[in-house]
This record gives sequence, structure tokens and C-alpha cells, in this order.
Amino acid sequence: MSNSLDTLLSQGTEELRLVADEASLRSWQNRWFGKTGEISNALKRIAEIPAAERREYGQKANSIKEELQAAHDAALLTFREKALEEDLKKGSVDITLPGRRPAPGRLHPSTQTLRKILGIFGELGFEPFTSHEVEEDEVNFGLLNMPPHHPARDMWDTFHTTRPGWILRTHTSPGQIHAMRKAAPGPLRVVLPGMCYRYEQITSRSEIMFHQVEGLAVGEKVHLTDLKGILLAFIQRLFGDKRKIRLRSSYFPFTEPSMEVDMDCILCAGKGCSLCKKTGWLEILGAGMVHPTVLKNGGYNPETHSGFAFGLGVERIVMLLSGMDDIRQFWANDWRFLKQF
Ligand code: FA5
Repeated sequence: MSNSLDTLLSQGTEELRLVADEASLRSWQNRWFGKTGEISNALKRIAEIPAAERREYGQKANSIKEELQAAHDAALLTFREKALEEDLKKGSVDITLPGRRPAPGRLHPSTQTLRKILGIFGELGFEPFTSHEVEEDEVNFGLLNMPPHHPARDMWDTFHTTRPGWILRTHTSPGQIHAMRKAAPGPLRVVLPGMCYRYEQITSRSEIMFHQVEGLAVGEKVHLTDLKGILLAFIQRLFGDKRKIRLRSSYFPFTEPSMEVDMDCILCAGKGCSLCKKTGWLEILGAGMVHPTVLKNGGYNPETHSGFAFGLGVERIVMLLSGMDDIRQFWANDWRFLKQF
């Protein structure tokens, strides 16, 4: 069998030596590397080789394959160089033409908006804080006032990892615990940006991965009015200084009281249109005063300290700012979409 492989190598090399141009090289490649080519056939024959010789046969067949491939690549390069040389001699290539400028990359629309949001919060005194994308179940849920089997866990359908107790974070809120534990008992004012993952149905409004920005402020005198003031300042800086907000009562286990924050519709300014579904308002983010249990889990004394927190979805903000109507565009990697930003 080994002998027949040796013949294969010498035959392939000899036939390649007779190849005179790129077109014949393509035929050679088909004959040797095509689906039913000599090399594929030799590899298929492995099954017929007695078990004791199979390993040696396989190694030899593969090394012949590599050797012939390298000889082919070298021949191709020589043909190309020769063709270019001839073109240059004939003067058919204008070497004075300017080169093609490589298209410069650009930032993804989510990154652009994320940076804008962090910039605004930076002006308002919030420092960025980086937390983990792979998070402990205990921090994502437990320390946020959702012990195992708490019904509110259903609000965040979860991707689990193969490591028991570790999940892909479903929101940026677990970062609150890390940030508080680092700063306690001192004052804290941070924004936590990052990717979140949810085991959800993908629709034009919902993705399984999306960015959130969490905001958190803790101190001895932090009030709901501070939260309202910060959010109004943020929304007016991002969407224009005519924007109004309203706070609507809601529920999150880690804030008390909890609320949804709406902004008057950017299209109809509150009159009612298809964007705001005739309500005049657009839902922008979830927020509330940090729950005493969460403050305690973060290392603060809820008797002396209080805090506010909020969380917003970056892609939904990009959609509002740009008039996009399908969130699936974000990760489709379609250059025609991306280059519009
Ligand atoms: C939360 O995730 C809370 N952690 C927010 C919060 C933080 C409340 C701090 C109170 C205090 P919610 O599940 O509503 O809440 O998500 C927040 C935002 O993330 C939504 O308003 C939306 O903009 C965005 N979002 C949620 N799910 C998706 C999804 N599947 N695709 C894209 N964006 C989403």
C-alpha cells in the first residue's frame, strides 16, 4: 500500500511539472484534489487497509496531500508572478494609478450610542464601572432580593452555563452589588454598561443579547427627587431639551418603590401616533429606590444610607433616535445597515 502511495506522489509531481499555465493548473487540481480526485480516493481507501497498517498509511497519505498542495501553491504563485511581469512589460498595468483605499471601519451603532450615554452621565458625575458578563446566579438574582424559586425570576429568562450556579447575566443590575461592595460605606455614583443575555423569543423588539446601562447612586441623602432630576437631565440631553418624563408605578424586586420612566413621544410630542401606539408616551427605562435588603447585601446600612438605581436598553434607544423598526438588524452584520451610522 505504501508503495502505491509513493507512486501517487511521484505521479502527481510529474504531472504538475508538465503544467504550463494557470488553466491547466486548475485541471490538475481537479484531477488531484477534486471530490473524486486521486488524493480523496487515496484517503477513502484507508477503510480497506488492515488495522495494523492503517495509522502509517493515513499519515503518509496526509503528508503526500500536503506536499502536493504546497507544490500546487508554489506553481500558482509562479504563474501569477509571470503573468504580472508580462502585463507590466506590455504596459497594460498602469502602475501610476493610485491604490484602492481600504474602507475605514466604524463603530457599531450600539457602541456609538453607548458612548454618548456614558458621556452624558459622565457630565452628570457618574463614573463607569465594569462588571461581569458571566455572573453567579446568587448575584444576578439572590442578592437582588430574589431567592431561589422567587416568582420574579420569571421576568428574566436565563441562559445557564455548564458551571453550576453560573449564568449569563440577564441584566446589568447584579453589577450594583459589585460596585456597592467596592465603595461601601462611602458615597457611590456609577453607570454600569454591558451586554445582557435573555433566553427569549427573538422579535422585532426583543433580542437574546442587548446592551443595558445601569445607573446607581448611594449616599446618606439620596432621594427619589434626585433620581427624577438626573433622568430628566439625561433624557433632555439625549433627545432634546423639550422632552418631558413621567414616572409610572411598577415592580422590581430590587427597588422599592419601583417605576417605569416614560418620555413624551419624540414624533408626536404627546398627541398620539403609531410610534407611541396612540398613548403619547414612550417607555424608556426601569428605575427605583434601592431596596433596603439590596443596600445591606452591598455593604451599606439602610438606616443611614439610601440609593436610586435605573436600567435602560441601549438598542431600544438607538431605535428611537434613528427610526429603526427592527432590533434584529443590530447583530445581522449587514454592511448596508451598519454604514448608515
Ligand atoms: C431590568 O432589566 C432591570 N434590571 C432594570 C432596572 C434597573 C430596574 C435598576 C430598576 C432599577 P427590564 O427587564 O425592564 O428591567 O429591562 C430594562 C430595559 O432593557 C428595557 O426597558 C429595554 O429597553 C431593555 N430590554 C429588555 N429586554 C430586552 C430585549 N429582549 N431586547 C432588547 N432590549 C431589551
